Amino acid sequence: MNPEELSRGLETRLIGRRIFSYEALDSTNDAARKLGDEGLPEGTCVFAEFQKKGRGRLGRSWSSPRGKNLLFSVLLRPRLSPAEVSKITLTAAVSLVKVILEITGVRAGIQWPNDIFCEGRKICGILTEMSACPPESPAEEGAHFVVVGIGLNVNSGVRELPQGASSLGEITGKSFSRVELARAILRQFEKDYLVFNKGRFEEIAGEWENYSLTSGRRVTATVLGRKIQGRATGIDGDGALWIRQDNGLQERITAGDIEHLCAL
Ligand code: BTN
Repeated sequence: MNPEELSRGLETRLIGRRIFSYEALDSTNDAARKLGDEGLPEGTCVFAEFQKKGRGRLGRSWSSPRGKNLLFSVLLRPRLSPAEVSKITLTAAVSLVKVILEITGVRAGIQWPNDIFCEGRKICGILTEMSACPPESPAEEGAHFVVVGIGLNVNSGVRELPQGASSLGEITGKSFSRVELARAILRQFEKDYLVFNKGRFEEIAGEWENYSLTSGRRVTATVLGRKIQGRATGIDGDGALWIRQDNGLQERITAGDIEHLCAL
């Protein structure tokens, strides 16, 4: 995959207006961060065929065999407070499930906040990282830039992936053009990001609920080592997850990890 190929017929105004692609990198998120520091414009994308130090959420690693899947990061410069950054991740998750369905016919769902699953296996993860302005900066209230890193398992075999993971190829028995998928994701993410940027996150949150695997389920959330068990009732206008605990108390979760429990 090279930038020319990825840009062909892309026709986006923002996302993908600059594209970099590499055979191998430590992490596309690190490379995009560096470009962010250097002042590259919003919408710049970094793709890699292989990552030596691919990262996941909560300090986990993200491993993916060379040349089979999609590994890329998008640099954004939204005007929002650090507390709102998670909304961008939820927006990306919504874009991804829509494109996966449109291009591959696979009905995937979202496990809060942004893991994309199909048939009980994870096929895609999103890692959003933010560079906040130093306090003395004039724009101290805003996020300086945000990097949205996406790892989508497209054509790899399950044996090449970590336990519990799968790929679109494994699920359907077909192989898919990574370039076609990447272009569709950039187009859809641009549309959804523009909706978000116009202050209409509630529309995205509504779509998120349609694809949610978490809402209505019994879950255990782990937040800073504390376990909260109950039924997830859905997300609010800030993208936080609400859990009704067995003792009736409602808990609002803004970050952390959740596990779906078997009994519905
Ligand atoms: C997760 O599910 O924990 C998030 C995984 C995010 C992986 C992607 S791959 C491209 C980008 N670069 C990284 O180092 N991580 C993200």
